Amino acid sequence: MTALTLSTAAASGLRADAIVVGVAKGAKGPVVAPGAEAVDKAYDGKLASVLETLGATGGEGEVTKLPAPSGFKAPVVVAVGLGTVPEKDETYGTDALRRAAGTAARALSGSKKAAFALPAEDAGDTGAIAEGALLGAYSFDAYKENGSAKGKNSKDAKGPLAEIALLGGKPRDKAYKAAVERAVAVAEELNRARDLINTPPNDLNPEAFAAVASAAGKEHGIKVQVLDEKALTKGGYGGILGVGVGSEAPPRLVKLSYTSSKAKKHLAFVGKGITYDSGGISLKPAGHNETMKCDMAGAAAVFAAVVAAARLGLEVNVTGWLALAENMPSGSATRPGDVLRMYSGKTVEVLNTDAEGRLVLADAIAKASEDKPDAIVDVATLTGAMMMALGSRTFGIMANDDAFRAAIHDASEEAGEPSWPMPLPDHLRKGMDSPTADIANMGERMGGGLVAGLFLKEFVGEGITWAHLDIAGPAFNEGGPFGYTPKGGTGTAVRTLVRLAERTAAGDLG
Ligand code: BES
Ligand code: MN
Ligand code: ZN
Repeated sequence: MTALTLSTAAASGLRADAIVVGVAKGAKGPVVAPGAEAVDKAYDGKLASVLETLGATGGEGEVTKLPAPSGFKAPVVVAVGLGTVPEKDETYGTDALRRAAGTAARALSGSKKAAFALPAEDAGDTGAIAEGALLGAYSFDAYKENGSAKGKNSKDAKGPLAEIALLGGKPRDKAYKAAVERAVAVAEELNRARDLINTPPNDLNPEAFAAVASAAGKEHGIKVQVLDEKALTKGGYGGILGVGVGSEAPPRLVKLSYTSSKAKKHLAFVGKGITYDSGGISLKPAGHNETMKCDMAGAAAVFAAVVAAARLGLEVNVTGWLALAENMPSGSATRPGDVLRMYSGKTVEVLNTDAEGRLVLADAIAKASEDKPDAIVDVATLTGAMMMALGSRTFGIMANDDAFRAAIHDASEEAGEPSWPMPLPDHLRKGMDSPTADIANMGERMGGGLVAGLFLKEFVGEGITWAHLDIAGPAFNEGGPFGYTPKGGTGTAVRTLVRLAERTAAGDLG
């Protein structure tokens, strides 16, 4: 894991592979951002014009490398684009800082140490830069021949930037220290979630995921209970069992309980943890199953958020539920037409075995409801329809409470995770009417993401506030990396959940 410190050193004297500065897009060309004054001075105040000569504009995502001024211990200056210069009296937005820091960290992968001299006005900005840098300094190369797990020096696997020093921060100031500690805890757990998402499904089945959760629970003082297939059968978890029954690797339901002696509220997070989604008997065609190891991204996000809450000592109780199963076709698999008796007692006619996420979540949501938490939030790569609606970078939020949906949207904006509120129109419920069972697991094709949300709503305990995050789009980045987002597992929703827990602890949610 990349190490990060606050430093008061002067840029010129620092032994590092590179100094990172910010450059923004001004009306008349690139402008050097605050924080880099000393560096600019060493170029005789000509850094902006040198950058312009090299073709830099200050646009977001841009990286320009140039030789450091003479007398500097670091050989290279990396100028990273911040986007448009802020209006007078405004500052660079926190997510612009996060993204720029992430872009710079990615550009420096394979390097040992870099010093960041980006514009930070306060501890919040410094925390954002720390978070962006640590999230950008991520690589998953455990399966490369010379990957970080096995050694170095591979062309394919450079490994992440190893050490980051943030210049201009105040290492002795309480607020700065706390901001950096928070960024480190959140980024480390988020990067662990990315590792889980990226781990191939032959190495991460429900049992293996549960083992990872148990180990982390021990390390961080979180109580962990694992229900195996025997316990699930005894407990009547027909949804989780029905999805997992086709696989050689049996399902699990994991409960992670973080409690604070000062807590006034209790949040329950529920994650969809399909370690591989083949579609089951309603098999997905080639072209639709290659990335389906990512179908446990909701459970990975919930897991990371609970551990982060524990590491931060948040004054709120947080329970995480990981609904883990592998969806496979076989002679023992659930058939389209089968009826499952769910944990809640409701029966479900399975019309399409590829609509499996709602089945495992329904059991976990019903179980989570028994604790009577103040709110339940489920997180799931649930529908291709949500991806169609919102694209690949924005998750949808549905809820049975307008104020709670808005609060989650606010939390996601603060976290820098794009999301958008979606409705749960009552009229779509009748499409799931079943002649045989209480409900079918499929309804109208149009508005498929909302149909899935309406299905889940039926399993929320009476009177409990609930929201559903459909992260099918942003959970797995199939395109190129950008900002602090790598290719592959992104860890989306982790920071929204942590922010929500923080706001709940602070009493912001009533
Ligand atoms: N895991 C998929 C949804 C998904 C699709 C996630 C693409 C990430 C990327 C889910 O289990 C699924 O297969 N949903 C079906 C539901 C349908 C059969 C009602 C879908 O969206 O097509
Ligand atoms: Mn599916
Ligand atoms: Zn799925």
